[in-house]
Amino acid sequence: MPLICVCSPKGGVGKTTLAANLTYALARSGSKVLAIDFDMQNALRLHFGVPLSDERGYVAKSAESYDWGQDVLTAGGNIFVLPYGDVSEEQRLTFEHNLATDEHFLARGLGSLLNYPGLVIVADFPPGPSAALKAITPFADMHLVTLLADTASMSLLPHIENQRLTGGELNHNHGHFFVINQSDTRRQISRDVTAFLEERLGEQLLGIIHRDESVCEANASQKSIFDFSPSSAAAFDIEIIARKIVAKLGINVGDGTVHNVSRKSGL
Ligand SMILES: Nc1ncnc2c1ncn2[C@@H]1O[C@H](COP(=O)(O)OP(=O)(O)O)[C@@H](O)[C@H]1O
Ligand SMILES: [Mg+2]
Repeated sequence: MPLICVCSPKGGVGKTTLAANLTYALARSGSKVLAIDFDMQNALRLHFGVPLSDERGYVAKSAESYDWGQDVLTAGGNIFVLPYGDVSEEQRLTFEHNLATDEHFLARGLGSLLNYPGLVIVADFPPGPSAALKAITPFADMHLVTLLADTASMSLLPHIENQRLTGGELNHNHGHFFVINQSDTRRQISRDVTAFLEERLGEQLLGIIHRDESVCEANASQKSIFDFSPSSAAAFDIEIIARKIVAKLGINVGDGTVHNVSRKSGL
């Protein structure tokens, strides 16, 4: 169950876009992949063709003790998505309260999915610290911190180093890594910040994704960058990052085709 958490101290940096396209990239390499949304914006599902009007999700029901796997939707091929769902303020607060106060809450909800053989999980988070990020961190194999090639992202590095995202070490398994998104080689400031982050992060910098208009267009058409614009710079960059993740986590390419499909959870 390799579990990858896509997080950031900042909003609007491309976490959801990266989480979705990594899901597609890992699925293309043969794994069965589940994308889980922990952000109440509930936007991750839109990257997998789930209609805007579809309000289903696991959060509204998770006040009760139940298996979140029941709300997994199939997104074609070996891709699955667990949407946050459309929730009231009260439901959101209950969910966050449970995450923060019941140490077994997340393990109960995600248990069957975490133990599903060969399933790769990519989880998307809201910006900054969250009860979900803190609760899932002990189970995570890798944290991918997404930053922009701008000074605001740069100024948040100490925030990450001082453990402000979860109050502790980000990852005890394979460590935490960074992705610089929307790097723009035409702009001096973007080049300067990218060079600074390359130097500062060293091996922890897993990849750089170019600023690429086809990413926005792919998002608007609810397609992956690989389907929408396979020869784009961003598709190339994300593919490289996915390959590095496969290598670092020792994901068995081809795992996804081995297991039977269960009607109940869609897995
Ligand atoms: N590499 C990129 N090039 C151009 N636009 C991008 C890129 N990555 C993300 N975007 C755009 O940036 C915006 C924010 O992305 P999103 O994934 O919603 O960020 P977050 O989840 O961090 O809030 C979206 O409009 C998305 O289309
Ligand atoms: Mg997002």
